[in-house]
Amino acid sequence: MSYAVLRGLGTHLPPRRVTNAELATLFDTSDEWITTRTGIKERRWVRPGQSTGDLATEAGRRALKSAGLDDGAEIGLLIVATTTPDHPCPGTAPDVAARLGLANAAAYDIAAVCSGFVYALEAVANAIEAGRVERGLVIGAETYSTILSPNDRTTSVIFGDGAGAVVLGRGAPDEPGRLLGFDLGSDGTGRDLITIPAGGSRQRSSGVAASDDDHYFTMQGKKVFAQAVHRMSESSLALLGRVGWTTDQVGHLVGHQANLRILKAVAEQLGLEPHRSVTNLDKVGNTSAASIPLALADAATAGELRTGERLLLTAFGGGLTWGSAALTWPDITPA
Ligand code: UT7
Repeated sequence: MSYAVLRGLGTHLPPRRVTNAELATLFDTSDEWITTRTGIKERRWVRPGQSTGDLATEAGRRALKSAGLDDGAEIGLLIVATTTPDHPCPGTAPDVAARLGLANAAAYDIAAVCSGFVYALEAVANAIEAGRVERGLVIGAETYSTILSPNDRTTSVIFGDGAGAVVLGRGAPDEPGRLLGFDLGSDGTGRDLITIPAGGSRQRSSGVAASDDDHYFTMQGKKVFAQAVHRMSESSLALLGRVGWTTDQVGHLVGHQANLRILKAVAEQLGLEPHRSVTNLDKVGNTSAASIPLALADAATAGELRTGERLLLTAFGGGLTWGSAALTWPDITPA
């Protein structure tokens, strides 16, 4: 039997900081509204010409470094979770694999929106546990700034760009960093709550030309908010039951950084004190598939995570999709 263990964590944020004050010059909004409704103070946006694959490659390189590996390391499987791929076709992952010198690695993208990182983590952990690969790389990377509508102040103040990556390897059952279980789910009846209407076969085959607005990200915020709290709480509880942990045994909850009010509500539903819920969205906003590895790196760098402590990751996103993961924290330094 093989066990999947987290061996490295790397992140990359584009340098351009976009503060709430700057957004207030572009939209009818204010620092006060954004802070009280979301908890976000600033986010990063890519410069013109910079893509999701560019961010993913740098985060992947840093994750390899954190795992004591270099470009060209033996990686059997690379998955890029993203809502904002470099192109509709081909996938972003094969290009990232090539740029990292990961010769012949299986490489594909996962489109599970904000749950994508947890979905990809499960797929790579499964491949290791089944003995199909020795080592894998999971990258969550996004450039939401490229799909935000200049006419939508609500989504424009929430989302940010960034990438986070982890290396998984084969390890021992009692080793810190082990992935112990997952809970994944979806409900496609909520497909219209988060969507980019144009660009896919549904719109193309309709014979109706898409408007510029149809290419932008849309979200029905209030309905999504309620679903996010419900699904992340239920999924977390289901997973705790499956791995046999009580809430008290969880060191930290690392939830998808959607909105500070959502994170508080999920922690409350689980009976966790607020300080055990990791938050970094004040600095990066909602970075969708990149959000969990970015939050993990932030907490680890701040010294909040102890080696061996039990972590519960939980995410929710468009689809609708949701997913949770249980692991112990390894003895690694994020790069
Ligand atoms: O990452 C994947 C999943 N995503 C999420 O989980 C996000 C879930 N949703 C949310 O976080 C919240 O619903 C939002 C932050 C998107 C919106 O917050 P809300 O408290 O649900 O606000 P709302 O959409 O109900 O809007 C309340 C008011 C409205 O004005 P009226 O109708 O009450 O006069 C909006 O027009 O706030 C107004 N508003 C704004 N005002 C200033 C909406 N956006 C803004 C803005 N600045 N940026």
